[in-house]
Amino acid sequence: MDQERLLRELSEFLRIPSVSTLPAHNQDCRAAAEWVAAELRRLGCRDVQFLGSDTHPVVSGKGPDVPGAPTLIIYGHYDVQPPDPLAEWTNPPFEPTIRDGKIYGRGAADDKGQVFCLLKAIAASPRPPINFRFLIEGEEEHGSKVLFDLLKREPQRVRADVVIVADMSYVAPGWPAVYTTLRGLCYAEITVRTSRTDLHSGEYGGAAPNAHEELCRLLTRLKGEDGKINIPGFYTPVKRPSKAELAAWKKLPFTEKDFLEKRVQGKALVGLKKYSVLERLWALPTFEIHGILGGFTGEGAKTVIPAEATAKVSMRLVPNQKLATVERQLAAAVKRFAPKHVTATVRFLHGADPAQINVDRPAFKLLGEAFKEVTGRASVPARAGGSIPVVPALASAGAPVILTGIGLPDDRLHAPNEKLDLKQLWDGIEVFRRFYDLLGGAGRM
Ligand code: BES
Ligand code: MN
Ligand code: MN
Repeated sequence: MDQERLLRELSEFLRIPSVSTLPAHNQDCRAAAEWVAAELRRLGCRDVQFLGSDTHPVVSGKGPDVPGAPTLIIYGHYDVQPPDPLAEWTNPPFEPTIRDGKIYGRGAADDKGQVFCLLKAIAASPRPPINFRFLIEGEEEHGSKVLFDLLKREPQRVRADVVIVADMSYVAPGWPAVYTTLRGLCYAEITVRTSRTDLHSGEYGGAAPNAHEELCRLLTRLKGEDGKINIPGFYTPVKRPSKAELAAWKKLPFTEKDFLEKRVQGKALVGLKKYSVLERLWALPTFEIHGILGGFTGEGAKTVIPAEATAKVSMRLVPNQKLATVERQLAAAVKRFAPKHVTATVRFLHGADPAQINVDRPAFKLLGEAFKEVTGRASVPARAGGSIPVVPALASAGAPVILTGIGLPDDRLHAPNEKLDLKQLWDGIEVFRRFYDLLGGAGRM
């Protein structure tokens, strides 16, 4: 492998600030799509197309037809999360920099670096007998509306023998994984209004309701100090993992102490104490407050009673919760928990159903073998805490969807100083190259 050239090309991709959630970056998203399209053309793809949007298109393409060979869909995303807080980055987020065997930059692991591996692995070998199909989207971090709509219009686009998604990480260094579940997501804004306008806190304080205070109380009713979510019906469909699965998790190189000290770097873990931390992260739903807007947050002091406050919240969903049901449940709970003197409204921004994947199908064995040959250890089954909205749609035609990845748990996705270890990058290209060979050799499945 010409590592220097590959690093130059990856850096070029990482330099494009394709932040899909910020309209100011629409042209950059388009530029990242162009980068992907050029790469697909270099791989000899025909029908390289931009679908569904001018600014955040799904880039689709087809490798050369190999009659009788298996069809593999490669899914990935070229969009990235906003880079803030900028001051905490050692190098600017869109000026990728190599230090200590790692490449730092927004998108290094999520997901540009991993898309890069999947694509470069095709170029790295004499072309394997596979009908490659590509669906690389530009809106994953924003709910994947364009791709959802495309797959609704053209469901045949997910007909294949196998789908591979590399947008996650190993469970620990040296421990590659395939994921059996992905959490879903329900993202909402809860707004509370208590009066027509803001009020002087001297003239009115003590008698007028305060929107921030009401919102805080409402939020603590939705989720208690013990970590329990009190939205009626919320936990009803949630099933505990089997005894065998819980026992298997105990064998993973994961300790709650290391998770607290090395990963969270806080003083204590929280949540439902009667469940292990892995169960809380992988098999239970969540309710998180992302930010609270409104009132006075400027410099200095201003004595005012805010009339309106908004919380951005999200719930991670687990099998067998349903997004549509959870939306109804949240709206009903807000109505029920808000006192009569406040107007509380809920606006849903985006969401995704959870996904469940059967990893006993043959394609998973082939990937396990590839990991074993390259890294010395086959992939182990694990669950994922994060979400990839279109995964249920990718699975809808019946093809096995392999959820895997070549990142590490400390890659700092969505956070300052996101990175990808170069060893993971080189191994990743090898693993996928080997996987393509094994899949091509196995024939249709
Ligand atoms: N790659 C992540 C999903 C992920 C992260 C899966 C960690 C497993 C472990 C993906 O890019 C992501 O961040 N998804 C968003 C989706 C949302 C914005 C709809 C997420 O999980 O917050
Ligand atoms: Mn991702
Ligand atoms: Mn992400």
